[in-house]
Amino acid sequence: MSKGEIAAILLAAGKGTRMKSALPKVLHPVANMPMIGHLLAALDGLAPAKSVVVVSPDQPSVSDYVAPAVTAIQDPPLGTGHAASAALPALGDFAGDVLVMFGDTPLLTPDTMRALVEARRGPGDPAVAVLGFRPDDPAEYGRLVTDAAGGLTEIVEAREASPEQLEIGLCNAGIMAFDGARLSKLLGTISNDNAKGEYYMTDAIAIAREKGWSCIAVETDDPEEVMGVNSRADLAMAEAAMQERLRAAAMARGATLIDPASVWFSADTVLGQDVTIAPNVWFGPGVTVADKVDIRAFCHIEGARISEGAIIGPFARLRPGADIGRDVHIGNYVEIKEATLEEGAKANHLSYIGDSFVGAGANIGAGTITCNYDGFFKSRTEIGAGAFIGSNTALVAPVKVGDGAITGAGSTLSRDVPPDALAVTRASADVREGWAAKFRKRKSAEKEAAKKKDKAG
Ligand code: UD1
Ligand code: MG
Repeated sequence: MSKGEIAAILLAAGKGTRMKSALPKVLHPVANMPMIGHLLAALDGLAPAKSVVVVSPDQPSVSDYVAPAVTAIQDPPLGTGHAASAALPALGDFAGDVLVMFGDTPLLTPDTMRALVEARRGPGDPAVAVLGFRPDDPAEYGRLVTDAAGGLTEIVEAREASPEQLEIGLCNAGIMAFDGARLSKLLGTISNDNAKGEYYMTDAIAIAREKGWSCIAVETDDPEEVMGVNSRADLAMAEAAMQERLRAAAMARGATLIDPASVWFSADTVLGQDVTIAPNVWFGPGVTVADKVDIRAFCHIEGARISEGAIIGPFARLRPGADIGRDVHIGNYVEIKEATLEEGAKANHLSYIGDSFVGAGANIGAGTITCNYDGFFKSRTEIGAGAFIGSNTALVAPVKVGDGAITGAGSTLSRDVPPDALAVTRASADVREGWAAKFRKRKSAEKEAAKKKDKAG
């Protein structure tokens, strides 16, 4: 990319009425990351000198989320041109390129942002470069009017457009790159003399032309990338598109997805090489998977770190703070929360391991439960390396089982177990020889007698 500083203005002060939500629109998540977070992450790729998010005073959660990005308040919202102007004081005398974009286009990529800035810096030194696209249905989008030489002469909002202008297929995607030195002169001249009585940012183009400054349109061939999310239905479409992208990226980096369409990633999911993911796996936020991990069908994983060679599932649940060591096996119906399992430990069936440490090579028997919560406080369980926890052991935390210790199946343990000891809590069985046979004989006779009585009656 050519040299020069970039700043960004993200418009996020709109009401988002069509979402029908108490949550500000730009905080609605796509792949478990708020939409505005996707834009800020994409912008990171351009290392902007400054990013200013224009917010509404009614939505302090947006300012909190975007920090440390600078925010500018727009109050009341009087249109996109007015919103962009609200960011100008925060930009100061910045004279590089200024990208202005909308907070509800989560699929926009750094490559497209860069291409737009490059075009702005290109031949003829245009004042503005606008991203254009050709949607299947142009509907309410602003139309890009070009001249014979291909220069952009104006953007006409659908409401203001003539029938001929409505025939134009090339539409305003909503992202523009401005020459920062000319930005305030353009925004300052925008009026609200139009159908909606709003200050349209799009008017900046005609104003630039009046001043003798050229403007250009850069066309993207991927309309999906610039889709704006205005409703829950749009949100679902953006989610689907984002998941497609994340699945393709995971495979390109060397993961096998047996049925890609049934695997759901978060924007921040990190996968190593030669990871195999079976169908129906869900990755929540904060998951890192090392090389050669085998994730079997129907797993639900969030906030977890999984080390090389581990086998997870089928039907496993890893919750925040699950730290799975090398070659660890987590099997079916096992839930791990806030627990470290060191190399080679195994919990293969029907367990809950919470607030725990499990040493290397320890074996957690089927049905083992760490009883970590007494209704008031959480307590820790520590299981030493090489320990063998018998099936259906209840470990009543706080409790420690030493290295190499064995606990008997069905034990409820609330006291520490020293290394290499056996701990077992078990009532001895009362075994009565021949009792079952006698029982069956007596009950059969009773049943026969009852039948006879029924017939006689
Ligand atoms: C806008 C464009 C249109 C383009 C379309 C692309 C204008 C006048 N029109 O229309 O040409 O084709 O986007 O999706 O720019 N916002 C504020 N403050 C305001 C108004 C809006 O911050 O006072 C923010 C919103 O939060 C939103 C963005 O600006 O993120 C776009 O606003 P919206 O009202 O959706 O614009 P459109 O009518 O879709
Ligand atoms: Mg819109």
